[in-house]
Amino acid sequence: MGSLVISFEKAYDCPHIFWADFAAPSRSLRETMIELANVSRSFDGIEALAKMSLKVPKGSLTGIIGPGGSGKSTAVKVMCGLIRPDSGKVLFDQTDLMSIDRAALRGVQARFGIQFQNDALFEHLSVLQNVMYPLERLTRMRIGQMRARAIERIAMVGLAGFEDRLPNHLSGGQRRRVAVARACVTDPDVLICDDPTAGLDPVTSRKILDMIIGIRYQTKNTVIIVSSDVLGLMSVADRVALVWDGAVTAEGAPHQFWQDDTPRVRRFLDDARLPFEVLGWQ
Ligand SMILES: Nc1ncnc2c1ncn2[C@@H]1O[C@H](COP(=O)(O)OP(=O)(O)OP(=O)(O)O)[C@@H](O)[C@H]1O
Ligand SMILES: [Mg+2]
Repeated sequence: MGSLVISFEKAYDCPHIFWADFAAPSRSLRETMIELANVSRSFDGIEALAKMSLKVPKGSLTGIIGPGGSGKSTAVKVMCGLIRPDSGKVLFDQTDLMSIDRAALRGVQARFGIQFQNDALFEHLSVLQNVMYPLERLTRMRIGQMRARAIERIAMVGLAGFEDRLPNHLSGGQRRRVAVARACVTDPDVLICDDPTAGLDPVTSRKILDMIIGIRYQTKNTVIIVSSDVLGLMSVADRVALVWDGAVTAEGAPHQFWQDDTPRVRRFLDDARLPFEVLGWQ
């Protein structure tokens, strides 16, 4: 696990195009890290996933967009084995998650870092303890190393000095940043961020996205970002999947999306761009 060299402030100071150039993956994106094949999952008769199929290339930054309630969070929880599908296949690095025992599944889950949509912080633990938690559980690092790593990541999300605070003494945006720091603290093989910029101001949103890109550049690992910030996500992702009614309705490189005339794609992207056009900014 290498230590990151890119600070939060430095990442922000760099023009975004800098990151876009340097964030290019080291691999050809031909290998698949995660595959959902015809995955369905219902909750109390509501079909959250309806034969969803999606491949996440190894080393990619894959973006997932889609309307509220379309199945995005359920899809990422299925990918890391937190939700078991009713039918279909989930392959992680060629392992069929449906056919492995609990111990093996825990081993797979240890390779993920997840920022949940509701942050899921431990309310009785300080910011530092929250961020150190995955290191304590999943690594054999010494306590001093763990502290140093956690403090580094807390600084990277712009929260240096907040280490001893309890989560309920933080703003919503600060909680989100702690959750992102905790998700990436182990440099996981797959980092999943579920709406990491929701409710954040544009400057902080940009910093968070740039930090995730910095981590990805450093580790060359796979990153999956679910986001309602469609334009922000489009500017950083290699691949984007549009989820609609529990299935992937369009998938491809961001530039292919802008050229896609499919009604759902157009509707979704045009709605995302609408405020800029109305204001005459684009
Ligand atoms: N644990 C659950 N119990 C019952 N219904 C659920 C559960 N999880 C998800 N659902 C339902 O499944 C559907 C998809 O939910 P999901 O959270 O995956 O959507 P989403 O695309 O992430 O939405 P949002 O953009 O609002 O976060 C919704 O109708 C939701 O109400
Ligand atoms: Mg969600």
